[in-house]
Amino acid sequence: MNLTLRQLRIFEAVARLLSFTRASEELHLTQPAVSMQIKQMEQVVGLPLFEQVGKKIHLTEAGHEMAQYSRRILGIMAEAEQVIAEMKGLSRGRLTISVASTANYFVPRLWATFRAQHPDVNVSLNVTNRAGLIQALAENATDLVIMGQPPENLDLVAESFMPNPLVVVAPPSHPLARKKKIPLGRLQQETFLVREPGSGTRSLMERVFAEKGLELSTPMEMSSTEAIKQGVEAGLGLALLSAHTLEMESALKRLVILDVEGFPVVRDWYIVHRAGKRLSAVAQAFKDFVMRETPRIIPVPEMKKRPRAD
Ligand code: PGA
Repeated sequence: MNLTLRQLRIFEAVARLLSFTRASEELHLTQPAVSMQIKQMEQVVGLPLFEQVGKKIHLTEAGHEMAQYSRRILGIMAEAEQVIAEMKGLSRGRLTISVASTANYFVPRLWATFRAQHPDVNVSLNVTNRAGLIQALAENATDLVIMGQPPENLDLVAESFMPNPLVVVAPPSHPLARKKKIPLGRLQQETFLVREPGSGTRSLMERVFAEKGLELSTPMEMSSTEAIKQGVEAGLGLALLSAHTLEMESALKRLVILDVEGFPVVRDWYIVHRAGKRLSAVAQAFKDFVMRETPRIIPVPEMKKRPRAD
C-alpha cells in the first residue's frame, strides 16, 4: 500500500474526531485538502474508509482496521523520534557531577572511560566534602552526586555501586606497623590526623570511635586527604581513610594499613540525585554506566597490610 505518513496523520485525526471540519482545524489544513487526502487514501486502500449517515460520518469496517494500524504506525514513529532526540541530547550533553573529595580518587577514571565512548559530552566536576554535597543537593545545583553516606533528611534516590573500606594508616616505621590484631583501644594512645568538620570521613570516624566508647587524644585537623597522607608519612600521627585514597601510597610502601581489630569498616559508595529530578539523557547514561561498569574499571583496594616476613 503506497500510503504516506502525512495521509496516515490526516486519516487518524478524522477517524478520531469523526469530523472533516475538526480534523482540518486541528491539522491547520483546509477542509477540501483533508477530503482530498482521504479520497486518495480510499483509492489506494481500494475500499471506502468512512460512510455518511445523515450529517454524521462513521468509520467503515475497513476504516476501523486502518485506524488501528495508523495509530500503531504513528506511535512507533513518535517512539523513534524520541529515541533519536535522546541520542542527540546524549552526544551534545553537559553534566554537572559533585563528588566527595575522597571519591575524587576514582571518579575521574570512571568519567574518562565514559567520555571515550561519548566524546562530545562535557562535564563540570565539583569536588567538595560531604557538607558541600548536601548543600548542592538541597539547592538542586547538581545533576548527580557521588558520596559515602547519603543524608536521610532529603528526598533522594541513592544507589550503592561499590564498597568503601575505611582503614587505619601509619608510616611503615611506626611501632604498630608490624603488629597483628591491634586492639582498637590501643589507638587511644596515638595522635590522629582528622579531616575538617563537614567531611564524611571525619563523621564516620567519630561515629566508629564513639560506638566503641573511645575518645581520641589530641586530634590534629587537616582539611584534605592529601594533607593527611603527607602528615602521616611525615610521622605526625595516624589516620582513618578510605582505602580508595591509598592506591599510590600502598604501592610505593609509603603508608601501611594497620591490622586493627574491627577494621576495615566497610561502607558503600552511592550515586545520588534528588527524588523528583528528571535526569537528562547524559545524566541517566552516566549513572547507568557507573552502576554497571565500576567493578570492571576500579580495582578493589588493598585493605589489610600484613607485616612483611623479612
Ligand atoms: P569526604 O567524603 O570525607 O571527602 O566528605 C566521604 C563521604 O562522602 O562520606
